[in-house]
Amino acid sequence: MKENIAKILLTEDRLRARIAELGAEVTRDYAGKNLLVLGILKGAVLFMADLIREIKIPLSYDFMAVSSYGASTQSSGVVRILKDLERSVEDIHILICEDIVDTGLTLKYLKENLSGRNPLSVKIITLLDKPARRKVEVTPDYKGFEIPDEFVVGYGLDYNEQYRNLPYVGILKPEAYK
Ligand code: IMP
Ligand code: MG
Repeated sequence: MKENIAKILLTEDRLRARIAELGAEVTRDYAGKNLLVLGILKGAVLFMADLIREIKIPLSYDFMAVSSYGASTQSSGVVRILKDLERSVEDIHILICEDIVDTGLTLKYLKENLSGRNPLSVKIITLLDKPARRKVEVTPDYKGFEIPDEFVVGYGLDYNEQYRNLPYVGILKPEAYK
Protein backbone atom coordinates (compact mmCIF):
# COMPACT_ATOMS: atom_id res chain seq x y z
CA MET A 1 0.00 0.00 0.00
CA LYS A 2 2.64 2.52 1.13
CA GLU A 3 4.88 1.72 -1.82
CA ASN A 4 2.28 3.26 -4.16
CA ILE A 5 2.34 6.62 -2.37
CA ALA A 6 4.61 9.15 -4.10
CA LYS A 7 4.41 11.72 -1.31
CA ILE A 8 2.57 12.35 1.93
CA LEU A 9 0.63 15.57 1.43
CA LEU A 10 -1.07 15.86 4.82
CA THR A 11 0.27 14.10 7.90
CA GLU A 12 -1.90 12.82 10.74
CA ASP A 13 -0.78 15.74 12.90
CA ARG A 14 -1.74 18.35 10.33
CA LEU A 15 -5.11 16.71 9.76
CA ARG A 16 -5.83 16.57 13.48
CA ALA A 17 -4.87 20.20 14.08
CA ARG A 18 -6.90 21.55 11.17
CA ILE A 19 -9.96 19.45 12.00
CA ALA A 20 -9.89 20.80 15.57
CA GLU A 21 -10.03 24.32 14.11
CA LEU A 22 -12.90 23.41 11.80
CA GLY A 23 -14.80 21.84 14.68
CA ALA A 24 -14.40 25.01 16.72
CA GLU A 25 -15.73 27.12 13.83
CA VAL A 26 -18.76 24.88 13.37
CA THR A 27 -19.37 24.89 17.14
CA ARG A 28 -19.44 28.66 17.12
CA ASP A 29 -21.55 29.06 13.97
CA TYR A 30 -24.22 26.50 14.87
CA ALA A 31 -24.60 27.16 18.60
CA GLY A 32 -28.29 27.00 19.51
CA LYS A 33 -29.24 25.54 16.11
CA ASN A 34 -30.64 22.16 15.18
CA LEU A 35 -27.70 20.66 13.25
CA LEU A 36 -27.56 17.61 11.00
CA VAL A 37 -24.09 16.62 9.80
CA LEU A 38 -24.67 14.73 6.57
CA GLY A 39 -21.77 12.52 5.55
CA ILE A 40 -21.37 11.48 1.94
CA LEU A 41 -20.37 7.84 1.78
CA LYS A 42 -17.89 6.47 1.66
CA GLY A 43 -15.02 8.93 1.45
CA ALA A 44 -16.15 11.33 4.18
CA VAL A 45 -16.38 8.72 6.93
CA LEU A 46 -12.95 9.20 8.53
CA PHE A 47 -13.06 13.00 8.32
CA MET A 48 -16.59 13.07 9.70
CA ALA A 49 -15.81 10.76 12.60
CA ASP A 50 -12.96 13.03 13.68
CA LEU A 51 -14.81 16.28 12.93
CA ILE A 52 -17.96 15.57 14.95
CA ARG A 53 -15.87 14.85 18.03
CA GLU A 54 -14.52 18.39 17.73
CA ILE A 55 -18.03 19.88 17.50
CA LYS A 56 -19.08 20.65 21.05
CA ILE A 57 -22.82 21.22 20.56
CA PRO A 58 -25.68 18.71 20.20
CA LEU A 59 -26.07 17.35 16.67
CA SER A 60 -27.40 14.41 14.75
CA TYR A 61 -25.76 12.73 11.82
CA ASP A 62 -26.84 10.73 8.83
CA PHE A 63 -25.38 9.53 5.54
CA MET A 64 -26.14 9.63 1.86
CA ALA A 65 -24.44 7.62 -0.82
CA VAL A 66 -24.16 8.88 -4.37
CA SER A 67 -22.37 7.46 -7.34
CA SER A 68 -19.94 9.67 -9.17
CA TYR A 69 -16.70 8.05 -10.20
CA GLY A 70 -16.97 4.30 -10.46
CA ALA A 71 -13.54 2.76 -10.72
CA SER A 72 -11.87 5.53 -12.70
CA THR A 73 -10.16 8.78 -11.66
CA GLN A 74 -12.43 10.83 -13.94
CA SER A 75 -15.88 12.11 -12.99
CA SER A 76 -18.66 10.80 -15.18
CA GLY A 77 -20.84 13.86 -14.55
CA VAL A 78 -23.75 11.57 -13.73
CA VAL A 79 -24.86 11.66 -10.09
CA ARG A 80 -27.21 9.03 -8.74
CA ILE A 81 -28.55 8.67 -5.18
CA LEU A 82 -27.75 5.16 -3.94
CA LYS A 83 -28.77 5.74 -0.30
CA ASP A 84 -31.04 8.56 0.83
CA LEU A 85 -31.75 10.28 4.16
CA GLU A 86 -33.96 8.53 6.67
CA ARG A 87 -36.14 11.46 7.72
CA SER A 88 -37.45 14.83 6.59
CA VAL A 89 -35.19 17.84 7.12
CA GLU A 90 -37.63 20.75 7.29
CA ASP A 91 -36.69 21.69 10.86
CA ILE A 92 -32.96 21.26 10.47
CA HIS A 93 -29.73 22.98 9.37
CA ILE A 94 -27.85 20.59 7.07
CA LEU A 95 -24.06 20.59 6.95
CA ILE A 96 -22.95 18.35 4.08
CA CYS A 97 -19.65 16.70 4.97
CA GLU A 98 -17.46 15.66 2.00
CA ASP A 99 -13.96 14.31 1.55
CA ILE A 100 -13.06 16.40 -1.50
CA VAL A 101 -14.58 18.87 -3.95
CA ASP A 102 -13.10 18.19 -7.35
CA THR A 103 -15.24 19.02 -10.42
CA GLY A 104 -18.01 20.09 -8.04
CA LEU A 105 -20.61 18.03 -9.91
CA THR A 106 -21.53 15.85 -6.92
CA LEU A 107 -21.99 18.72 -4.48
CA LYS A 108 -23.81 20.97 -6.90
CA TYR A 109 -26.33 18.21 -7.47
CA LEU A 110 -26.62 17.35 -3.77
CA LYS A 111 -26.99 20.92 -2.61
CA GLU A 112 -29.79 21.55 -5.09
CA ASN A 113 -31.50 18.28 -4.25
CA LEU A 114 -31.37 18.92 -0.50
CA SER A 115 -32.42 22.57 -0.80
CA GLY A 116 -35.55 21.31 -2.54
CA ARG A 117 -36.54 19.53 0.69
CA ASN A 118 -36.83 22.90 2.50
CA PRO A 119 -34.31 22.54 5.33
CA LEU A 120 -33.49 25.64 7.40
CA SER A 121 -30.13 25.88 5.58
CA VAL A 122 -27.65 23.81 3.56
CA LYS A 123 -23.93 24.37 3.87
CA ILE A 124 -20.85 22.40 2.84
CA ILE A 125 -17.80 21.34 4.79
CA THR A 126 -15.05 19.55 2.89
CA LEU A 127 -11.71 18.26 4.04
CA LEU A 128 -10.04 18.92 0.68
CA ASP A 129 -10.66 21.34 -2.16
CA LYS A 130 -9.11 21.00 -5.63
CA PRO A 131 -10.25 24.29 -7.21
CA ALA A 132 -8.16 23.81 -10.36
CA ARG A 133 -10.51 21.05 -11.52
CA ARG A 134 -13.85 22.77 -10.95
CA LYS A 135 -16.40 22.38 -13.79
CA VAL A 136 -19.40 23.94 -12.05
CA GLU A 137 -19.56 26.68 -9.45
CA VAL A 138 -19.58 25.27 -5.93
CA THR A 139 -17.98 27.07 -2.98
CA PRO A 140 -17.49 25.09 0.21
CA ASP A 141 -18.49 27.05 3.32
CA TYR A 142 -15.71 25.37 5.30
CA LYS A 143 -12.63 23.65 3.94
CA GLY A 144 -9.70 21.91 5.52
CA PHE A 145 -7.06 22.29 2.83
CA GLU A 146 -6.71 23.45 -0.75
CA ILE A 147 -4.65 20.94 -2.68
CA PRO A 148 -3.00 20.92 -6.12
CA ASP A 149 -4.37 18.99 -9.08
CA GLU A 150 -3.06 15.56 -8.07
CA PHE A 151 -4.96 12.36 -7.40
CA VAL A 152 -4.84 11.77 -3.64
CA VAL A 153 -5.76 8.80 -1.48
CA GLY A 154 -5.96 7.96 2.20
CA TYR A 155 -7.97 9.18 5.21
CA GLY A 156 -11.15 7.97 3.51
CA LEU A 157 -10.21 8.73 -0.08
CA ASP A 158 -9.87 5.77 -2.39
CA TYR A 159 -8.61 4.61 -5.70
CA ASN A 160 -10.70 1.63 -6.75
CA GLU A 161 -11.87 1.19 -3.10
CA GLN A 162 -8.29 0.83 -1.85
CA TYR A 163 -6.15 3.08 0.40
CA ARG A 164 -9.08 4.48 2.46
CA ASN A 165 -7.51 3.26 5.70
CA LEU A 166 -4.22 5.15 5.35
CA PRO A 167 -4.13 7.57 8.31
CA TYR A 168 -2.71 10.40 6.14
CA VAL A 169 -3.49 11.93 2.72
CA GLY A 170 -0.95 11.01 0.08
CA ILE A 171 -0.40 11.46 -3.63
CA LEU A 172 -0.83 8.22 -5.51
CA LYS A 173 1.97 7.29 -7.90
CA PRO A 174 0.60 7.61 -11.46
CA GLU A 175 1.82 4.08 -12.26
CA ALA A 176 -0.55 2.79 -9.57
CA TYR A 177 -3.56 3.79 -11.66
CA LYS A 178 -2.30 3.12 -15.16
P1 IMP B 1 -16.65 15.78 -7.94
O1 IMP B 1 -18.09 15.50 -8.21
O2 IMP B 1 -15.83 15.76 -9.19
O3 IMP B 1 -16.42 17.05 -7.14
O4 IMP B 1 -16.07 14.54 -7.17
C1 IMP B 1 -16.25 14.28 -5.86
C2 IMP B 1 -15.85 12.86 -5.56
O5 IMP B 1 -14.85 12.38 -6.44
C3 IMP B 1 -15.24 12.78 -4.19
O6 IMP B 1 -16.22 12.58 -3.19
C4 IMP B 1 -14.28 11.61 -4.31
O7 IMP B 1 -14.95 10.39 -4.03
C5 IMP B 1 -13.86 11.61 -5.76
N1 IMP B 1 -12.53 12.24 -5.96
C6 IMP B 1 -12.24 13.41 -6.55
N2 IMP B 1 -10.92 13.67 -6.54
C7 IMP B 1 -10.35 12.64 -5.90
C8 IMP B 1 -8.98 12.32 -5.53
O8 IMP B 1 -8.00 13.05 -5.79
N3 IMP B 1 -8.81 11.14 -4.88
C9 IMP B 1 -9.82 10.29 -4.56
N4 IMP B 1 -11.11 10.55 -4.87
C10 IMP B 1 -11.36 11.71 -5.53
MG1 MG C 1 -14.40 7.84 -4.42
